[in-house]
Amino acid sequence: MCAAEADVFVVFGITGDLAKEMTFRSLYRLERRGLLGCPIVGVAVDDWSPAALRRHMRDAIRAGGERVESKTFDALAGRLSYVQGDFDDSATYERVGAAIEKAKRPLFYLETPPSLFGRVVSGIAGAGLTEHARVVVEKPFGHDLASARALAADLHRSVREEQIFRVDHYLGKLGLEELLYLRFANTMLESVWNRDHVACIQITMAESFGVEDRGRFYDAVGALRDVVVNHLLQLLAAATMDAPKDGDSLDAARHRLFQAVATADPSRYVRGQYSGYRSTKGVAARSTTETYAALDLRIDNDRWRDVPVHIRAGKHLRMTQTELRFILRAPPPPSFLSRRNQPEANELVLRIDPHTGLRLILEAHRADASGPEPINLDMEFARQGGEGPTPYEVLFHAALTGDTEFFTHQDTVEEAWRIVQPLLDHAPQTHSYRKGSWGPAAARELAKPHGGWRPLWTE
Ligand code: BG6
Repeated sequence: MCAAEADVFVVFGITGDLAKEMTFRSLYRLERRGLLGCPIVGVAVDDWSPAALRRHMRDAIRAGGERVESKTFDALAGRLSYVQGDFDDSATYERVGAAIEKAKRPLFYLETPPSLFGRVVSGIAGAGLTEHARVVVEKPFGHDLASARALAADLHRSVREEQIFRVDHYLGKLGLEELLYLRFANTMLESVWNRDHVACIQITMAESFGVEDRGRFYDAVGALRDVVVNHLLQLLAAATMDAPKDGDSLDAARHRLFQAVATADPSRYVRGQYSGYRSTKGVAARSTTETYAALDLRIDNDRWRDVPVHIRAGKHLRMTQTELRFILRAPPPPSFLSRRNQPEANELVLRIDPHTGLRLILEAHRADASGPEPINLDMEFARQGGEGPTPYEVLFHAALTGDTEFFTHQDTVEEAWRIVQPLLDHAPQTHSYRKGSWGPAAARELAKPHGGWRPLWTE
């Protein structure tokens, strides 16, 4: 679903952390690929000279691991201008209006805390800049169902829902796109992708680092809100939704899947906090915020009824790796094999991070074993198709060209909050866990009935 290309890209909060870590690097990579075709206007309260902003941009691109080629950098810097101003001051938006001159289809990207979304959007609307505009906003979209609705109502005072592009950078990840292709372009896989063949689904997002300098932000949020209600539910949707019906968007298909997910059960929810978390700068001395969350979900539809979904995410775990694992049902015992030599269930693993890969665990007859033994069929996507674009490259390009498929709409956001709301309302106590471990022991119980959490691909 593509609309006309944006004719200016306005970034509110261009001097902030997200711009430093993600935005400049992604813009640079888009420039290098010849995919940027409009001016870029940065807006922030800091009193920076254009030269200082350019220097900052160069450092940020380099720190992101890119080799800075002058031709590409100069082309990008040539697009960039800066408007200094307080987001509370209507004169700032007048200056933005003057800076974007005759642009008809501006793309406004709000890299600001969500508490400023309403103010900024009403500022640009007040300056008469929103008629054909798109507005891109970053998560978090509220901290529960009620606040997500209030945030949307605030935005809807100034712009229509179809003008809002909500970023969940997981939707820009190559792995999620691979997943859709694997599922819907392969008869062999699609035919086993259901409750008749799948015994359970495990999703793990493990990070070997802590909250570092994000203590103030993180302590008010916790793992469930930071990565589960958004990133991991999006991964679950890509893994389990039905193919979009004719004329339907991917988001409509994701929304339909979320509608089928039963509201989560707090007695199947384990929260953990790594030891030492409370001494992080910005974290309350007696904080009970979870840095680890494990939960079970059920999808009540014909495809998945009674197939448990186990999800876990945590910081300071043993390694950094995100994967989705389908554990298939065990085959009926083959009569030609002795009782001691029964085959194990097959597994299909899609690794999302740090590199996308696909592993199929099959049973085979090996010369060095007496019965069937698991063998791994592994494929690293980068070996076959090269390195893909970064998530923000995908998302910026989609927003610039008006491709809505990579963004989530308000009804999908609300459905995701509906699923986890009981876990917020009846949050169990937080267990402490050791840095570098696999989280609290209590989380092992969740997956126990289905053979426990499987070791990750590279574990
Ligand atoms: C962000 C969370 O949205 O996603 C972080 O705020 C988390 O806490 C990050 O580390 C993970 O994203 P990625 O792409 O690095 O796996």
